[in-house]
Amino acid sequence: MCGIVGITADHEALANAIDYLVNGLKRLEYRGYDSAGFGFIECRTGRLIVLKDKGKIDEVVEKYNVTSYCGVAGIAHTRWATHGAPNKANAHPHVDCSGKVAVVHNGIIKNFVELREFLEERGHVFKSDTDTEVIAHLFEEFLKTERDPFEAFKKTISMLEGAYAIVLLYADQPLRLYFARKVSPLIIGVGRGFNIVSSDIPSILPLTRNIIALRDDEYGYIEPYMVYIEYKGQKTSWRQRITTVTWSVEDAEKAGYPHFMLKEIMEQPRVLYETFTGLTSSNEVYDAARLINEADYVFVTGAGTSYHAGLVFAYYMSRLARTPVIPFISSEYKSYESLASEKAVLIAVSQSGETIDTLQALRAFKAKGARIIAVSNVIASTIPRESDSVVYTRAGPEIGVAATKTFLTQVLALTMMAMQLANMRGYISDGEYKDMVELLSRAGRVAGEGINASTREVERLVDALKKKHSIYVLGRGLGVPLAYEAALKIKEVSYIHAEAYPAGESKHGPIALIEKGFPVIFVGAEPGEDYLEMIQGNILEMKARGAFTIVVGHDAYTKLEGVDYAIGIGEQPVILAPYAIIPPLQLLAYKLAVSLGYDPDKPRNLAKTVTVE
Ligand code: M6R
Repeated sequence: MCGIVGITADHEALANAIDYLVNGLKRLEYRGYDSAGFGFIECRTGRLIVLKDKGKIDEVVEKYNVTSYCGVAGIAHTRWATHGAPNKANAHPHVDCSGKVAVVHNGIIKNFVELREFLEERGHVFKSDTDTEVIAHLFEEFLKTERDPFEAFKKTISMLEGAYAIVLLYADQPLRLYFARKVSPLIIGVGRGFNIVSSDIPSILPLTRNIIALRDDEYGYIEPYMVYIEYKGQKTSWRQRITTVTWSVEDAEKAGYPHFMLKEIMEQPRVLYETFTGLTSSNEVYDAARLINEADYVFVTGAGTSYHAGLVFAYYMSRLARTPVIPFISSEYKSYESLASEKAVLIAVSQSGETIDTLQALRAFKAKGARIIAVSNVIASTIPRESDSVVYTRAGPEIGVAATKTFLTQVLALTMMAMQLANMRGYISDGEYKDMVELLSRAGRVAGEGINASTREVERLVDALKKKHSIYVLGRGLGVPLAYEAALKIKEVSYIHAEAYPAGESKHGPIALIEKGFPVIFVGAEPGEDYLEMIQGNILEMKARGAFTIVVGHDAYTKLEGVDYAIGIGEQPVILAPYAIIPPLQLLAYKLAVSLGYDPDKPRNLAKTVTVE
């Protein structure tokens, strides 16, 4: 939620910081797009200039002709509103009374009401309804008593309760940016003659691939030739903490596609292959399976799409490794933490590695002695850092707010963990294990074939569905988590209400809504005859009430009686079914959104990384 970026640069290294700020901020727009703003020290006058307004970054840049300015150092922000309406006054950066201090913030300052009173009593005048503005005024207040502005900054952050990633610019120290991190993510991009501080990796890629992931409660400052980090009053050494990310600038660009979401759907064959080869040539899966093997209780948690991948994991753990898994939605961790102990292992699934709910679940379990395995896509992000073992997906940066390629790479990684454990526990022999690995090596190819074979049918289906107000997505067995994921994709980008249920459950309430033309998508992921028969019954029940029935699944499902529309995936072994079934459903969601005139990369009210509770 909210993206922040700041840069300070030597003139030799970067003639104008503004071009970078605009470009860098646009690469964070997936984190929120209610308003945008820039604060920078103008090259000629040395004055602090702040340009901000509601709306998307391009709109604000155009309205204020931002790129016509020259800046030596600056900060920028794209907002996902928490406190205060998304209007100009509430847009970041926020400034103090003197107009010399500008601050951008991602997070929530819980005690901002008391701090605001404290500051108003001392004569500070507020211009916004945000929690963030107190930071600029606090710094201004402490400058009155502290000769060293860094001390004033430290005093400022010591007053803050809640979650924050902060970057502060002070006009009297034009080449220095102060930063602090508590809970909300913040990284430093280390360069030659410049340094960057940002919420996420894509924004630093145009200038450097060397990052330092800041840890909780670290703070400090950057200058063009200096990085200074402190933790609890002690200077910390950071050089050995530099990680070089393998993502390229192009990975974070649209590469000719109209939207990131489409690009990322189309990338699935490649990133599945890269995840597969990366994991088969490392110990990550083996180490994770060993931890699971030592545990008596296995939990898996995540939010949204990552939770759905966790459900797929629970399915394969039951089927292959005969090991029960307790899945829970990470924001509900409080209902499960009493079950955590040294005998438990928690698998925390998070693409970004920063989702606050998942992080809190992790911390609650860790505090009770549970071992933690992270499944994440972002190297050095918080969830992997706080885990005992990490399995990385190799999906590259995912910019579209809707998770697509990261879902299937998570499924792949989690399936490999279940297979490895099944082999360790003797439920599948070495030979069977090898055969399964060989099968999984085809996941990328299967996804590619699924995309190619279904594109025309998906387009026709879009015409049939785009005027509908509601869609059911039903499945059985493995089809259930896939149905959940399909429904989430459809609703979040097309705004058509889509709800998933186990098909058998539909008779226990949902069927009441069925009337003539109500669309019901059946996900046929289980190849067995028993499943076919059960789904056949469900299709006929829906058909009898006038539903428009659609099947996406194994070819055998497409031939069932009462099917109005079908997208067949051939016949796939159950271990490969997700890679064949999910891409057509992602394409359906994408094309529905586009045909209805929505931008699938920026669904309303959503942000890619949810770092507030
Ligand atoms: O980064 P994470 O995987 O932890 O994110 C979890 C969810 O916020 C995320 O999957 C969300 O549901 C997406 N909008 C799904 O498309």
